[in-house]
Amino acid sequence: MNRELLTITENEPLTASVFRMRLSGCAGGYLPGQFVNVALPGLYLRRPISVCDLADGTLTLIYKVVGRGSELMSRLRPGEKLDVLTGLGNGYDLAAAGDAPLLVGGGVGVPPLYYLAKELIKQGKTVSVVLGFNTKDEIFYEDEFRALGCQTAVTTADGSRGVKGFVTDALPGGASYYYACGPLPMLKALYRAAPFPGEMSFEERMGCGFGACMGCSMMTKSGAKRVCREGPVFKKEELLW
Ligand SMILES: Cc1cc2nc3c(=O)[nH]c(=O)nc-3n(C[C@H](O)[C@H](O)[C@H](O)COP(=O)(O)OP(=O)(O)OC[C@H]3O[C@@H](n4cnc5c(N)ncnc54)[C@H](O)[C@@H]3O)c2cc1C
Ligand code: FES
Repeated sequence: MNRELLTITENEPLTASVFRMRLSGCAGGYLPGQFVNVALPGLYLRRPISVCDLADGTLTLIYKVVGRGSELMSRLRPGEKLDVLTGLGNGYDLAAAGDAPLLVGGGVGVPPLYYLAKELIKQGKTVSVVLGFNTKDEIFYEDEFRALGCQTAVTTADGSRGVKGFVTDALPGGASYYYACGPLPMLKALYRAAPFPGEMSFEERMGCGFGACMGCSMMTKSGAKRVCREGPVFKKEELLW
């Protein structure tokens, strides 16, 4: 874990409630699936956000405005500094990918999969992606995944774009391993629908974010695990579902 004072270079809306923030001066070396913990003025607890991308010292975060912290974050302007704990969590296991991994994301579970897709493509993998949203106005990063060279499918619950339904309605054939991040009902549905191994990233509520408070504990087959320290990524076979 590092504590870094990063400079905001961009903070722009991608949809009505989802923003992309870019920060320069990042030491780097972080893994796909790891997260950062952002300090916001006047708030005691930091807010965890997944690493969406990391290139040339620039960290990209994509976040949804859901409450006080994310609202404060959306008001920050380029040039301002942000106090960020970086390099948190275990990250995805890239060695498990096989030749043709499948990445499945729902809503603000999509961002960490972008950095993962980039790294898997660098390793020569053929990457398929399924991105699930409620409606077309909430879609973000579809074009960015296509630009990386991923075979990309989009689902919307109301059918306003792509396949009507949930991510489980658009799973392609041929994948032998999956990586997922999204809301709990999506992860549980995927757990049941995909008959092959995989791993999932959990976005639990957190306290300290670095293993000290036990506020994010989750029961697994091998006992209680802290999502912030032993997670946020857990293998499918570890889960008690
Ligand atoms: C490892 C990890 C990675 C994350 N990555 C991202 C990301 O890349 N992009 C993103 O938009 N969000 C991400 N989150 C969720 C993000 O941390 C919360 O949305 C944020 O902390 C909310 O802060 P707030 O002050 O705006 O809302 P609060 O005022 O704290 O809460 C507002 C509402 O959101 C609910 N809420 C708050 N935190 C969570 C949570 N973790 N899960 C479910 N509901 C919650 C609250 O119950 C409440 O209803 C991640 C969380 C974790 C643990
Ligand atoms: S948030 Fe404190 S131990 Fe995980």
